[in-house]
Amino acid sequence: MIYFDNAATSWPKPPGVAEAMAHFLNEVGANPGRAAHRRAVEAGRTLYDAREAVSELFHAPDPLRLVFGKNVTEALNLALRGLLRPGDHVVTSSMEHNSMMRPLRALEGQCGPSSGGVQVTVVECSPQGVLDPADVEAAIRPDTKLVALNHASNVVGTLLPAAEVGVICRQHDLLLLVDAAQTGGAYPIDVQADRIDLLAFTGHKSLGGPMGTGGLIVGRRVDEAQLEPLVRGGTGSRSEHELQPDFLPDRYESGTPNVVGLAGLRVGARWVLERGVEAIRAHEVALAQALINGLGAIPGVTVYGTLDAELQTATVSFNIAGMSASEVGLRLDDEYGIMCRVGLHCAPTAHKTIGTFPDGTVRFGLSAFNTMDEVETALAAVEGLAQEAR
Ligand SMILES: Cc1ncc(COP(=O)(O)O)c(C=O)c1O
Repeated sequence: MIYFDNAATSWPKPPGVAEAMAHFLNEVGANPGRAAHRRAVEAGRTLYDAREAVSELFHAPDPLRLVFGKNVTEALNLALRGLLRPGDHVVTSSMEHNSMMRPLRALEGQCGPSSGGVQVTVVECSPQGVLDPADVEAAIRPDTKLVALNHASNVVGTLLPAAEVGVICRQHDLLLLVDAAQTGGAYPIDVQADRIDLLAFTGHKSLGGPMGTGGLIVGRRVDEAQLEPLVRGGTGSRSEHELQPDFLPDRYESGTPNVVGLAGLRVGARWVLERGVEAIRAHEVALAQALINGLGAIPGVTVYGTLDAELQTATVSFNIAGMSASEVGLRLDDEYGIMCRVGLHCAPTAHKTIGTFPDGTVRFGLSAFNTMDEVETALAAVEGLAQEAR
């Protein structure tokens, strides 16, 4: 059995993640910040430890500027819907996931084009998924408020130049929002050095946590008074007030948090920190390059993207001439025990950019736990299918 669907969600999780979740459920189990008894204090500590671990990984300016939520989709919605007002202009790229595109399109239409909805410019990337920072700069207008970018494509893995765009954003006094779903835990991110004002992350991919965990780092250039919460409610703080607290993270963390999940995320993030993102990255680059080279050498196989593992994550998309992506995926699972994802991967605009819309691609998403042996087994399997299709 080979699990190559890590770009959707990672498996296996690092050692200790499941145990930490079971420990929380069995031995702690209380609501953090809602009481002063020992179990509630312990739950609060678990929550804070998770906040600290993820903050350390991304170099957040302060753990209290990290807002937990259920995934990157929610974090992107919080950033976009919380920040943008009718008349604001946003620059984004053609390699975005629908988690970015759909909220942007909804904001664009919510007041109708003539009634001053949010204006969106989608900067075209190359057919390899590469974004030229100069094209981002050229798209900036006097009414631009935000540049909102995927950090790496979930279709072809191509890295987008977040740090270069960060410099441009500072020069033009704009905010930069980055979707780190595919890079968090797999590629070094320093929100301060990279000048990222808002970093949306998800816990269940390379951070090694469970589903239902994620969040948003809110940089110091973001005025929380200008960032509206998505939901309001109980926070366990300032309970004498009917109005939502105005401070971070409580302003954006209403309702009982997923401490079971965060107990796991804490262990996942600590595992990444201990192993080192650079070491994880080096392992994944080696696997990805072997995969790209091996697939590219099989007659009838087209590999998408830059074909240079240094310029992408360990997510590799391909097609076999004469066999649909869905058939390849089914047969890899049934006949070879290889699990991957096929189709559009929730990113139709990215497929239009690389020329694979509407059929999509077969996607191998690798993680720190995959091995060179697995890559070789998968290459032999694709070779077998490609031979049949010839
Ligand atoms: C680039 C990108 N953005 C957003 C998402 C959405 O992630 P989640 O479902 O964890 O919110 C994904 C997940 O596939 C992704 O790859």
